[in-house]
Amino acid sequence: MCGIVGIVGNKEVAPFLLSALKRLEYRGYDSAGIAALNNGKIEYCRSKGKISALKDKVAQYPVAGTVGIAHTRWATHGVPSEANAHPQFSDTVALVHNGIIENYEALKAEFSAKGYNFTSETDTEVIVALITFNLKEGLKPKEAVYQSIQRLEGSFAIEVLFDGYPDMIIGARRGSPLAVGYGDDEMFIGSDALALAEFTTKISYLEDGDLVVLHKDKVEFFDEKGNPVQREIVANHASSFTIEKGEFRHFMIKEIFEQPKAIEDTFCSVYDKETGLINSANIPFDLTKVSRVAIIACGTSLHAAMVAKYWIETYAKVPVDIDSSSEFRYRNPVLDKDTLAVFVSQSGETADTLAALRYCKKHGIKTLGMVNVPASTIAREADCILQTMAGPEVSVAATKAFTTQLVLFAALALALAEKRETLPLPEIKKMAKMLLDIPSIMQDFLKETESIDKIAKDIVKDAVNALYIGRGSSYPIALEGALKLKETSYIHAEGYSAGEMKHGPIALVDQGLPIIVVAPFDKYFEKTFSNMQEIVARGGKVIFVSNKKGIAAAIKHITASIAMPDVNTFVAPILYSLPMQILAYYTALAKGTDMDQPRNLAKSVTVE
Ligand code: F6R
Repeated sequence: MCGIVGIVGNKEVAPFLLSALKRLEYRGYDSAGIAALNNGKIEYCRSKGKISALKDKVAQYPVAGTVGIAHTRWATHGVPSEANAHPQFSDTVALVHNGIIENYEALKAEFSAKGYNFTSETDTEVIVALITFNLKEGLKPKEAVYQSIQRLEGSFAIEVLFDGYPDMIIGARRGSPLAVGYGDDEMFIGSDALALAEFTTKISYLEDGDLVVLHKDKVEFFDEKGNPVQREIVANHASSFTIEKGEFRHFMIKEIFEQPKAIEDTFCSVYDKETGLINSANIPFDLTKVSRVAIIACGTSLHAAMVAKYWIETYAKVPVDIDSSSEFRYRNPVLDKDTLAVFVSQSGETADTLAALRYCKKHGIKTLGMVNVPASTIAREADCILQTMAGPEVSVAATKAFTTQLVLFAALALALAEKRETLPLPEIKKMAKMLLDIPSIMQDFLKETESIDKIAKDIVKDAVNALYIGRGSSYPIALEGALKLKETSYIHAEGYSAGEMKHGPIALVDQGLPIIVVAPFDKYFEKTFSNMQEIVARGGKVIFVSNKKGIAAAIKHITASIAMPDVNTFVAPILYSLPMQILAYYTALAKGTDMDQPRNLAKSVTVE
């Protein structure tokens, strides 16, 4: 989850490293650091907190040199502190690391016994100890790194500077991603294409187990056996986007408002205007032969998968299994060769989702990655991809990534329905047209968000707990609403299917508990309505999210309402996601929490 970047250059690297770190801040932001080689000597600066804190510190204590490495941390071992920030270093090396060293305790004990003085609580420092010892044994830097990584269990992407080697960075990876960028008389290395986007459009991805030696005029790759290898140079399509909020106060609200455009771009990428149907040419499998769809994802992406289950089973009549990525490969899933496994991930780097993808590939299952970052590892490793066209999502809380995933899943359900002839063609075209119409309906909805702001301030802000309920495809939307609220405002929130209330959660209902009822006017409405009345009878404060008709029916029971446009059940989950996001945003705003970078979280979860 940490972000790393390095430059072997021909000008002072500190400002460039800091700007690259800013772009990598989505990977972690509890501490950061940079190191550079000044006339062959290591200089460094580290700081607790965000990149802005490091920037201030570097202004005070400059780090000079044209070769340097940098790191932004998401703590795994040891609290966020200056001592635990990277680079970790010894008298001969400075090193940054993304990943987890699983056998670090054994290695720490071994090197402590040999007299190595550990100064941090990190797992990373054992890599420094290993390399330092190997150098003292007389090994050259490349060999010292190679021998050291053979002793490591776990995942890592590392970059290392060596005292006395003024024109060199060595990198290596296993499990965690690493890419090299080619410049003009300068070379770059970083966690992903995004990190390198402002420097170059030419990159190579390291394969698992690779080691790379960077000089400003050449790059040498070695495979896991230590043999020299070539790695293909590809175009870096990651946009060198500027991290600007424009007219908005926060990225989260900016990204909420970007949804009409993101959805339009996403849907148009799979919609065939000529036929009015979905173009599934990107999926090189015979969709008539798919016996089961397995969807594997984490967090918000998992909620999109849960909505997809309703759609695909209802409209295409294909059974769908949903798995949380972290559980999937450990539960010995029964998969047959006609299963289509779909891996949903905004970042395309989520460690558990990636591991699940590799598990399926190993078992000969057809794999489809649904990602927002086309240069990501999942995108590169899946048999084929569907790309959400959300553009870079900076806010840690996923918003536009979610609704664009929903749109792609809705399109996939229609493509399956067409190929399997489970719906008549005119019906499919009608449903595709509903998806086409969403951006303008969303646009209108986004014009009126003050009432949600008021609900956030008057009802939700001071709550300790909140419940979200819904039925059918509104159930995952309730889950997503609860996730958004808890991660951005730190209010404990849970989502339940409305029918589950009586099986336990209703015991929580009292006058201080806001309950957000997601109730489109669909076939579930009457039942959800009854559940809402049961809550009201026990003193719960209901915030009712429905269309005008639904609200009119509920008005005398409820504390507040959010009026939704009249839309077909099929597309309702996409529209009903908006009030969930906006309520979370305004609640966080009212509470003064940092909703763009909430505590303890990171945008890309690259460790298990
Ligand atoms: C919540 C959120 C997370 C991510 C999850 C998966 O707002 O963003 O729950 O959805 O970490 O991330 P990706 O989609 O990148 O695999």
